[in-house]
Amino acid sequence: MMVPQIKFIKHNVSISRLVYGIWRLHEDKDGFGEEQIYKKINTCLSLGIDTFDHADIYGDFENEERFGMVVKKHPDLKNKIKIITKFGIQVPGSKFPTKHYNTSKEHIRYSVERSLRKLQLDSLDVVLIHRPDPLMDPTEIAEVFESLIQEGKVKHFGVSNFTPSQFQMIQSQYKRPLFTNQVEFHLFHTEPMFDGTFDQMIQFGIHPMVWSPTAGGKIFAPKTESESNTLSKLEEIAKKYGASVDQIVYSWFLNHPAGLIPILGTNDLKRIESAAKCFSFPLTRLDWFSLLEVARGREVA
Ligand SMILES: NC(=O)c1ccc[n+]([C@@H]2O[C@H](COP(=O)([O-])OP(=O)(O)OC[C@H]3O[C@@H](n4cnc5c(N)ncnc54)[C@H](OP(=O)(O)O)[C@@H]3O)[C@@H](O)[C@H]2O)c1
Repeated sequence: MMVPQIKFIKHNVSISRLVYGIWRLHEDKDGFGEEQIYKKINTCLSLGIDTFDHADIYGDFENEERFGMVVKKHPDLKNKIKIITKFGIQVPGSKFPTKHYNTSKEHIRYSVERSLRKLQLDSLDVVLIHRPDPLMDPTEIAEVFESLIQEGKVKHFGVSNFTPSQFQMIQSQYKRPLFTNQVEFHLFHTEPMFDGTFDQMIQFGIHPMVWSPTAGGKIFAPKTESESNTLSKLEEIAKKYGASVDQIVYSWFLNHPAGLIPILGTNDLKRIESAAKCFSFPLTRLDWFSLLEVARGREVA
């Protein structure tokens, strides 16, 4: 079974229901040269995963470029892949002494044009504000978003790690529908289901993307008692379904009515293949709640 597409009705576009994340690309134990990246992209495509999640800062500002070298060498990829990237985080170094955010119109334009150059593309499918900037001006942001869309450089804009009110603030000035709010969500961080983040996505008719779906791998290497209990429950459910633990971890996201889109972080090709099979193991409501209960260490009220 191939990974299905999920439709963004307001945007008239679909992306794969599992997205592949580029954050850890440079940590691959098998290397991160062109051959290995090409192999990974092809593994994803063969499974139906056609969407790749970048950010300007990933890999010390080098992962977009590493990926782009492969796109340049294999230009046929351009018609097969969809690219999401992010901007706004400024890391301290020779240029700046202080870590900060920049959502000024000049920086947004600069970042988009730099990502296009590094990724060797003419247009970016989705661009997200990486983190909410306390100094962000929604009017200024909406203006430059619109210009970049008119110029054909970006197809859709969205946000990441935004509270519902921050999302609403940007949306109130931007005449097109924001694409998504990409947030941290996994068994050990379930707040977006309870703080209005996912409610708002349903209300706006868009799908949240969820990062660190395996809690950065913590789900497979528990340290606390509650983490161990969660892994035991996952193992129990996996056994019942004839699935592997990771497949149950990813399947757990699929029950939510907002249409969550997990972003895979594993560099292991076999683990990517395994994740893609999660759609074969839909969880019952009871299994879903039993995982929520064990991960949070308490039953629902
Ligand atoms: N918007 C944001 O602020 C934000 C923040 C963080 C991340 N993201 C996005 O989300 C993506 C995914 O995040 P993530 O990398 O933290 O995902 P993740 O899946 O939670 O963590 C990946 C880590 O878990 C390990 N892992 C994954 N599956 C495993 C398995 N079956 N068994 C054992 N270990 C396993 C991986 O090791 P192996 O490689 O060895 O399998 C890797 O070290 C990123 O690439 C990025 O695109 C966005």
